[in-house]
Amino acid sequence: MAILVTGGGGYIGSHCVKRLLLDGEDVVVIDDLSTGYRDAIAGGRFYEGDLACGAFTRDVFEKENIEAVIHFAAFSLVGESYTNPGKYFRNNIGAGLTLMDAMAACGCKYLVFSSTAATYGEPCHIPISEDDPQRPTNPYGESKLAMERIMRWYALAHGLRFCPLRYFNVAGAWPDGSIGERHSPETHLVPLMLQTALKLHPRVTIYGDDYDTPDGTCIRDYIHVCDLVDGHVKALSYLVNGGECTPFNLGIGRGFSVLEMIDAAKEVTGLSIPVTKGPRRPGDPSILVACGQKAMDTLDWKPRYTEPRAIIADAWRWHSRQR
Ligand code: UFG
Repeated sequence: MAILVTGGGGYIGSHCVKRLLLDGEDVVVIDDLSTGYRDAIAGGRFYEGDLACGAFTRDVFEKENIEAVIHFAAFSLVGESYTNPGKYFRNNIGAGLTLMDAMAACGCKYLVFSSTAATYGEPCHIPISEDDPQRPTNPYGESKLAMERIMRWYALAHGLRFCPLRYFNVAGAWPDGSIGERHSPETHLVPLMLQTALKLHPRVTIYGDDYDTPDGTCIRDYIHVCDLVDGHVKALSYLVNGGECTPFNLGIGRGFSVLEMIDAAKEVTGLSIPVTKGPRRPGDPSILVACGQKAMDTLDWKPRYTEPRAIIADAWRWHSRQR
């Protein structure tokens, strides 16, 4: 029986494929390579194509004996989702429906879903727990929340067993530097800082230094991609062992400001990272920190990386090879 990883050529998906292969799993990958990379997929049987195409996706399910799906394939740029909401709803929801229809048709029941802290929007308190209100402030978060809700109806109609995993800020890379974060264009803080250290950008712009935080910059909960992937593996085994359909936050439960992250990156690289202050980025909440207790208690999950320097050190091993 195989595990299907959709979006297995992307940043998180490629780390998940590598982990599953190391665990000895039989892995099938679907990716249209629109934002993923063929050379990031460490193994398994690869199908290049559009998940939203019903004939293509059903064909993969008919050829392969797929027991479970880990669904990463999606567009994930918050800024772009404001300017092109249709692209996000069509792809992130449309492809999700096609996938779940194929699963239902083939009797495949287990789905671990890549959701996001962006489904919470501006939090009502910190740390954020799974029962807190979900009021997304951008179309990206809205598309993921819609999928979380739709999955419940597939559970009722088709017996789907699912867990949405709400990621906080994912960073880092496979520790040997063989795969890592590769976006084009890059918009995320950690890769931008490291690319700036490599002089690929002249400076990092700090998006707002007038937030109600100790140093005025936004605070985020940075989780290592390998810890995140470990959460997926544990969520899948929880579902297969009869666990109920329920969401889990994946974060370390501690927040770090933009300035603290830049200081950590300077320390790790030993290089200068020039910064400039810019205006706030629309839709950025001041503080996002997870309460990860539910995942720790229920999934027996525990992040191994609990401070930014170690996360950035792994990311740096990858980025410094990309010169
Ligand atoms: N930031 C800067 N300058 C930059 C880039 C980012 O100051 O050039 C700041 C942002 O304002 C934010 C922090 O660094 O405070 C982290 O920003 P990222 O763009 O790295 O990540 P986000 O917090 O915007 O988004 C991440 C994921 C989203 C997810 C969200 C959940 O990328 O997919 O967390 O909150 F929706």
